[in-house]
Amino acid sequence: MNPQSARYAADSYSQGMLHFGWFVGHGFGVQGWGTPGYSLGYDWKRPEIYQEAVRHFERSGLDLFIIEDSLTVPDTYGASSEVSLAQASFAPKHDPLALVPYLLSATKNLGIVPTVSASFYPPFTAARLLATLQHFSDRQLGWNVVTSGSDLAAQNYGLDQQIEHDIRYEKAEEFVDVVRKLWRSWQPDAIVEDVKRGIYADHRKVEPIHHRGEFFRVRGPLNTAPLPEEPVLVQAGASPRGRAFAGGHADVALALARGVDGMRSYRESIRAEAAASGRNPDHVKVLFVLKPTVVSSPAEAEELRAQREALTQRDIDSQLNSISYLSVIDFKKFDLDEPLPKLSTNSNQGTLEHFASAAPAGATLREILSKRSGGAGDSIIGTPEQIVDYLEQTAAEVGGDGFLFSGFVDPSTVHGVLDRLVPVLRRRGLLRTSFGDGGLRANLRDF
Ligand SMILES: Cc1cc2nc3c(=O)[nH]c(=O)nc-3n(C[C@H](O)[C@H](O)[C@H](O)COP(=O)(O)O)c2cc1C
Repeated sequence: MNPQSARYAADSYSQGMLHFGWFVGHGFGVQGWGTPGYSLGYDWKRPEIYQEAVRHFERSGLDLFIIEDSLTVPDTYGASSEVSLAQASFAPKHDPLALVPYLLSATKNLGIVPTVSASFYPPFTAARLLATLQHFSDRQLGWNVVTSGSDLAAQNYGLDQQIEHDIRYEKAEEFVDVVRKLWRSWQPDAIVEDVKRGIYADHRKVEPIHHRGEFFRVRGPLNTAPLPEEPVLVQAGASPRGRAFAGGHADVALALARGVDGMRSYRESIRAEAAASGRNPDHVKVLFVLKPTVVSSPAEAEELRAQREALTQRDIDSQLNSISYLSVIDFKKFDLDEPLPKLSTNSNQGTLEHFASAAPAGATLREILSKRSGGAGDSIIGTPEQIVDYLEQTAAEVGGDGFLFSGFVDPSTVHGVLDRLVPVLRRRGLLRTSFGDGGLRANLRDF
């Protein structure tokens, strides 16, 4: 791919083209732990491995790279951090915002999207950091706005527990509003750089925002230079309140949904929310998250699926530790061979529902875990052709915008997935072969 190449005329390539990205669910954390290639020639704490990965994403024609983040060492499962730490799951983890400049310096077109917590970042700090980073790039920046459901995280920020689920979204609405007001507190032409008159910026074009809301009081103006373009907003909440937030504000909704019907109704609900808030629904791209394992033959896929469905103790602990953290419910207390009771949470509601629906209602916890391991969760096992068949058919039936591959970003994972899927995606005309020069938002609106 030649980054300098002109944008194709939209009509010549928009038919059937999908958006693809990569979601690193381990964040700026330990990459490749538990795989045979772990740490071969790389150190997850250093930026080089991520730079190598984003270069490959860009060359492959992916639109964006999203970096998960969390703010705790989880110890909900069995009231212990043993599994989190032994499996390097959620911890240790470094701050993704510090990694962003390295990723921007390695790429020109790929969207770089760190996670920002609307619950814990002061909006002035977020607006300033993101504005600074956007100036390093060619309009490549995004921000994954999350509401941080964890009580453990809340306890790192002076609270006893996280505030109520829907109130967190009210706070996130105000957070986004304040950040945007701060970005707009400088008119785009406020910097005049008039050397003759000795005027760098025109004070008449820079105004305080005087925001006084329910959650934040911010005077403004922001003290950074005005933005060439506001970062692309990404959001992943799936509860009704989360979808309303995505529809109202997001350029990209990350989605976990079950089956073609679940995906279609997810996408339709986000688009309906966008229309209800006066936005063009085509300006919210719904990207479904999927963890691919690429194998060489259908027989190998079957074999691997059966192997994974058999569940090792490590896999059981890994899945239960994760869902315990994400739901703030200790899953150690449930009998693996009893039906999972109906559960509710003040934390990640969409994620809990997605977990429980991996097997039919009334299934035991073990059956749910087994189905998820075997590819009925957000994972898929298959040959490149099988996986691309699935992507193509699903998108056609859902009317979909595209997919996010999730996984580590160590070289063997990245190459293991992309080197085998990209040629097939290209042959079928599903993946872009060049970028325009309009930045991430323009790329997302190409088709
Ligand atoms: C695919 C996906 C990725 C997410 N990434 C993060 C993340 O990096 N950090 C985080 O705190 N929450 C993350 N979340 C959580 C949400 O963005 C959201 O704030 C929370 O799940 C509440 O969602 P709900 O509306 O489903 O209850 C993610 C959720 C999904 C489905």
